[in-house]
Parts: sequence; C-alpha cells; structure tokens
Amino acid sequence: MRTLVTGGAGFIGSALVRHLVGDLGETVLTIDALTYAGNLESLKAVAGNPRHEFRKADIRDFQAMADAIAEFRPDRILHLAAESHVDRSITGAHAFVSTNVTGTFTLLEAARAYWEELEGDARDRFRFLHVSTDEVYGSLGPEGLFREDTPYDPSSPYSASKAASDHLAKAWHRTYGLPVVVSNCSNNYGPYHFPEKLIPLTILNALDGRELPVYGKGENVRDWLFVEDHVRALDLIARTGRIGETYNVGGGNERRNIEVVRHICTVLDKLVPAPRPREELIRFVADRPGHDARYAIDATKLERELGWRAAESFESGIEKTVRWYLDNEWWWRPLRARYAGDRLGLTVAASGRQEPAG
Ligand code: DAU
Repeated sequence: MRTLVTGGAGFIGSALVRHLVGDLGETVLTIDALTYAGNLESLKAVAGNPRHEFRKADIRDFQAMADAIAEFRPDRILHLAAESHVDRSITGAHAFVSTNVTGTFTLLEAARAYWEELEGDARDRFRFLHVSTDEVYGSLGPEGLFREDTPYDPSSPYSASKAASDHLAKAWHRTYGLPVVVSNCSNNYGPYHFPEKLIPLTILNALDGRELPVYGKGENVRDWLFVEDHVRALDLIARTGRIGETYNVGGGNERRNIEVVRHICTVLDKLVPAPRPREELIRFVADRPGHDARYAIDATKLERELGWRAAESFESGIEKTVRWYLDNEWWWRPLRARYAGDRLGLTVAASGRQEPAG
C-alpha cells in the first residue's frame, strides 16, 4: 500500500505517518507546507527510513500536488492538511478559508486528474480520505450525540471552513465518482500536540508555574480521543470504509474543561511535586466568542461496521501524554519560544473593550 499523507508534519498527521511507516511498514509520501504548526521534528522516528519520503509543498498549489501524486503513484490519499485552531480562525479567518477550502478543492482536482487516468485494479483500489472534525455539527445541548446524519451547523470560521471542505469532498464523489470517504473526529490529544490547544497548553503552563486560562466558567464539554486511537481509525476507514460515507470517530470521554485542567494538575502534582497545588494557577478568563457548549460523538457506526475500538481511557491517555511532555522537552521548548501561549481569538466585544466613541 502506497499512502500519500497531507499535513503529515502536523499533530494528527505525524502520528498517522509514524503509525503507517513504523507500525504497519507501509510506504508513505508526507506532504506538508511547514507553516507554524508543521514540524519535521515530529517525524524524527521515520527520518531516514527508506519507506518514507517528505516533500515540502502547499495543497493550494495544483502543479505541486499533481506532480507529487503523479511521481509517487499512491493507492490512497489521506488528507489531513488544515488550519485547525479555532482561536486563530477568529483572529484571522483568511488562512482558514484559503487552506481548508481552496486547498481541499485544489487537492481534490489533482487527485481526480490522477484517478481518472488509472485503470483496472489500481483504479478500483484508489481512495481519498478527507479527515475532518465534529465541529461541523455545531453545538449540542446537555443531551444527545453527533451522528453521521446530524445536520451541519458550524459556529466558528474554522468549523465553517471545514464544513465547506467536507461538502466539496462529498460533491467530488457524487459528481465525478472520485472514491471519497469522510471522517469526522472529536478533540484529539497526545504526544507532539502544538502547545496552543487546551491540553498541551495546560501541561506546559502548569510546568512553568504560569496561569492556566479557562474560558468562561469551564463548563464547556469536549469528547477526548487519544491521537493514536484516532490514526488507527483513519487507516481502517481508508482501507475498509464504504465509498461516499462518513464515519464519526470519538473516544467516548466527555469531560468539562475545568475537569480536564484539574485532572492534569493532579497528574502533574503526582509526577513532579511542586511547593503548591497547581490548581491554584487556574484563572477563569473571557469566554471564546461563539463558544460551542458541548461536543459528543456517537462512534457506533465505525465500531459496528469496521470493528474499531478506542484502546485508551481518558485517565491512561492523559498520564501517557503528561509523561511524554516531561520526557520530551527537546520537542516543545523551541515551540514555546516561538509561541508562548498568549491569548488569541478575542473580538472587541468579547474582551469587554469599549468601541472608540464617534
Ligand atoms: O472537536 C474537534 C476539534 O477539537 C478540532 O477540530 C480542532 O481542530 C481542535 O483544535 C479542537 O477544537 P477545540 O476548540 O475544542 O480545542 P481547544 O483545545 O482550542 O479548546 C478545547 C476547549 O478548551 C474549548 O472549549 C475551549 C477551551 N479552552 C481552550 C484553550 C486554548 C480554554 O478553556 N482555555 C484555553 O486556553
């Protein structure tokens, strides 16, 4: 199996590449534009492996995509390249529309040009997996779960751009017959996570004795999925998922944000005792504009049809993650120098600042 992975130097992408090359012995071409969250250090485990090749390229560049696909001749394309941070999308939506929407469109066109020239088995075998998010479904109340048929209702510039890209991927299947499968996952966490997201930011701020910002009252709920469980699901969905279908991926680990932050503090206090409990660093700060109240995934389609199960509980996954950050300062320290964790994504209205008079 020859797999082309876009966004393969990112958090989920690099976990996928390490799994495909390291655990499954597959041949992989990783494509990544190496913007702020793409990091070749995350691919150290496969560097020098003859089954792995890296190419710096942008999914918005049709010729670069067409050349990479024509030269590598993949059996499947797993598309993970995306701008992914909600707060950044509030501060600057342009990159999100450009990469997530235009980039996905461009990649779909390059994949279609290649697939239309394939014949026989190679044509039948080819798959395009579009990797997306549960945020496209919007916000849940206290009850209920996102299913594959839940209507789209995105709240943020990020989730709206991902929703648009999902529609493009589905349309390329319906209109051109491109063998597309779509996956929508819940919140991932684990090693090599860029320290702007809640879990790695909390771990590193707590280690540095810095404040732990919790948006609003910390009551928002997310459904946490260990990244290594997610990448096993992606391989399975691309391999055996039904063409034209969507599969939701979730860990079945709903937690309020404040519970997540407190739990990380407890684990850190146990592993690296500090003079004062790290919970004292928690600060409730201005809420995220358009903050979705609750995400929770119904993953039974993936479990029933494809036999996937999450192996990691929230507690075991968090402990592994905290230990990984403790052991791998070489990876995160340079990133903290580039992005120290300053607050992003506040609009004038949300930050409580006054509009200038007149
Ligand atoms: O649900 C899947 C999505 O999960 C992915 O599609 C996104 O790419 C990924 O970033 C993540 O989105 P969230 O917005 O849920 O993740 P984030 O880590 O930014 O925030 C998790 C929750 O924690 C959210 O309710 C906001 C809150 N939060 C976040 C940060 C960074 C805080 O309370 N304090 C913080 O400092």
